[in-house]
Amino acid sequence: MWGGRFADGPNAIMREINASIPFDQALWQQDIAASKAHVAMLAACDIVSDADAEAIIAGLDKVAAEYEAEGVPENWDLEDIHMTTEARLAELIGPVAGRLHTARSRNDQVATDFRLWVRDMVDQTLAGLTELQKALVARADEHADSIMPGFTHLQTAQPVTLGHHLMAYYEMVSRDVARFAQARGRLNQSPLGSAALAGTGFPIDREMTAQALGFDAPTRNSLDAVSDRDFALDFLTVASQCALHLSRLAEEFVIWASQPFGFVRMPDALSTGSSIMPQKKNPDAAELVRGHAGRIIGCQTALMVTMKGLPLAYSKDMQDDKPPVFEAAGLLQLCIAAMTGMVEGADFKTDRMRQAAELGYATATDLADWLVREADIPFREAHHITGAAVKLAEGKGVALEALSLEELQAIDARIDERVYTALSVEASVAARKSYGGTAPDQVRAQVARARSELEMG
Ligand code: ARG
Repeated sequence: MWGGRFADGPNAIMREINASIPFDQALWQQDIAASKAHVAMLAACDIVSDADAEAIIAGLDKVAAEYEAEGVPENWDLEDIHMTTEARLAELIGPVAGRLHTARSRNDQVATDFRLWVRDMVDQTLAGLTELQKALVARADEHADSIMPGFTHLQTAQPVTLGHHLMAYYEMVSRDVARFAQARGRLNQSPLGSAALAGTGFPIDREMTAQALGFDAPTRNSLDAVSDRDFALDFLTVASQCALHLSRLAEEFVIWASQPFGFVRMPDALSTGSSIMPQKKNPDAAELVRGHAGRIIGCQTALMVTMKGLPLAYSKDMQDDKPPVFEAAGLLQLCIAAMTGMVEGADFKTDRMRQAAELGYATATDLADWLVREADIPFREAHHITGAAVKLAEGKGVALEALSLEELQAIDARIDERVYTALSVEASVAARKSYGGTAPDQVRAQVARARSELEMG
């Protein structure tokens, strides 16, 4: 009745819904490493003989070599990577293979493998983020003096330097790096030896396997160890935050590369043309980084929803933990690489940026600040006087500094000719030398600090 394409009825459906081998084969290296550590421990604790352990380890090496050369075979009857490996081991070395699974369950096995996989991915992600940080710092150094409009509400606000803008992203990425490092610290405990859920009656040494696999310690509660996935959620949460930062940077590039802005020419290698409009050069890579952030956040949501209703300990729902983590990890790596290439290869149009900074009365705050400093006028009143000057300039269709001294003095007699030195965009950025401000000297100080953090020299 309900078999449809499942010629064998419910059995075929069960096989297909149950099989995780199509995706969890990605864990094969971790699975082999954890099995080798486990059987070495069983031998050290006299639970299996040294000869059997040696045969199993040699067999596992052979299975690994086969996977390396030919890929992991996908047989749905063997369900997952754990059963696939054990079955092949038995074909290669015979019944002694059956001793490998002593004092172990697939529940602690998969929790261990997956932690190892996420740990490797955190390390790869951190390496990628370091490259992005270096690219940001190098371009910021180059553009510590390049003036551009700073925006609030995407309306011209005050002049800033491009170096300052790029270093803002350096700070965000630095916090992402710290979050990944903290997530790594939390996940680095070994579930191996928790067995199915309750621990084991065999006299195992969990410290030994933890150490062999580079974990800081064994997990402290077997029920928790086999049934929690917060290490994976930690990864997805941090990945989401990082993707969000990358997406915002990507969005800047999309805006800057548009013709009305013209602040940047994107590297050819990370752009595409249009099949119909010959003049087009589209920032596809940036748009896809923006798009992928949505997918990564979706992966985080997917696993949260999978986990939220599960009682202790393992439930099969948890097999679904892997696809979102694999997907998000791959997408994030790609996004980091794309943004690094974009930052390295961007051709910033600094003349255009500077011109844009002069539009929109970006130095109005400097006039108000000058009135406070030089004429001792309270800021609120200075703000009001400046508003009148902007209104006048706007009416005449000219820049603030194009107003004559007479015109300015008609608005407030306390203004004198020294005010003109405050109204240029150069003077505006140079004045903002408070700690962390946009003044080129401050930007250079940020760059120097970052260079030493990154040991860039
Ligand atoms: N393939 C399973 C998973 O990824 C392995 C654990 C199976 N455990 C069980 N009790 N059926 O979750």
